[in-house]
Amino acid sequence: MCPRYFLAACLVAAISWVDVRAAPAQDVVKIGVVIPMTGGLAPVGREVASGAKLYIQQHGETVAGRKIELIIRDDAGVPDNGKRLAQELIVKDKVSFLGAGTTPTAMAMAPLVTEAKVATVVMVSGTSVVTERSPYYVRTSFTLGQQSGIIADWAIQNGSKKAVCIVTDWTPGAEASKVFDQHFIKGGGQVLDTLKVPLANPDFAPFLQRARDLQPDTLFVFVPAGQAGTLARQFAERGLDKSGIKLIGPGDIVDDDDLPGTGDTLLGVVTAGIYSAAHPSSINKDYVAAYARATGHRANFISVGGYDGMHLIYSVLEKTGSKIDADAVVTAMKGMKWESPRGPISIDPRTRDIVQNVYIRKIEKLDSEPWAVEFATFEAVKDPLKEAAVQ
Ligand code: PHB
Repeated sequence: MCPRYFLAACLVAAISWVDVRAAPAQDVVKIGVVIPMTGGLAPVGREVASGAKLYIQQHGETVAGRKIELIIRDDAGVPDNGKRLAQELIVKDKVSFLGAGTTPTAMAMAPLVTEAKVATVVMVSGTSVVTERSPYYVRTSFTLGQQSGIIADWAIQNGSKKAVCIVTDWTPGAEASKVFDQHFIKGGGQVLDTLKVPLANPDFAPFLQRARDLQPDTLFVFVPAGQAGTLARQFAERGLDKSGIKLIGPGDIVDDDDLPGTGDTLLGVVTAGIYSAAHPSSINKDYVAAYARATGHRANFISVGGYDGMHLIYSVLEKTGSKIDADAVVTAMKGMKWESPRGPISIDPRTRDIVQNVYIRKIEKLDSEPWAVEFATFEAVKDPLKEAAVQ
């Protein structure tokens, strides 16, 4: 951990410890978040936690007269750990809210959340079905489907005809390629093959080589946050950046956390994503500056799930006068709208899923670093897999 980040983390921890002790127990609202802080998915946990902590730092630790205590538990990316930790948070810590992280843990926690009736904000998972696993789940992250259909349509409109998909062998990867295929094939394109890369310690080189051998004009890739840097390096090592094959994907493959280290490799790559640190709103400029001060690095698409997740909890506490009944809380969350650093967002009252803009972005060098520069906006996009189910 860089010393600046460590210092900031200690400061936040120290402040909440002192304040929480001073407040009577009934006045404390505990929020337990289960995320990977160690293991291969640690970059995901680090960024979502930083987003949540920044929100608390900026908006104060008291809401509707009650003290907020954020409790972060490390599942190391293992769903059984996540389930046990959620159980402890419910039974021992008596949390009022939970935060769910990556898809496997969010799935594993869902029956406990339903049984104990705890309003839970899904801050990371990008899999459509997760919000259907509990009526107490409300999402502030994204779905892969939201982005993958839009980039497939864009590719078809821009001349792509033959694609190969490389996706992580993981539920979000399966959803990304499923929605990409639906749109690409409907648009008259052909998907030559779908290659699945193991989630842990990925080596993309053999998959990139196989994809190249199939001679596509387009390569659709999904990797989770934390792997975009390795992907970019191996893409360049294989000479694919100079091959004429168009690399496209959801925003995860040009994660702002990794972009500064990718040099010129990804310049010109077009993705459909829900957040870019280059989003040109004043709210986002303030967010990126505050995030860099707090952590020493660039805000990314994972961080806004934590930041907006805390916003949702703060707003609902203000709206319900801090009475914490999960049914009332979830009802109050439905239809909430606000301006996030990523742009306008809302909670779909029917599905409890996030509705947000999806931007088409091209990687460009600004002030000597690569950034995802938005050039087209699809407004108020819902999760397409849930929409397809009601049609
Ligand atoms: C997920 O847990 O569904 C997930 C995590 C990281 C990503 C995308 C999806 O980048």
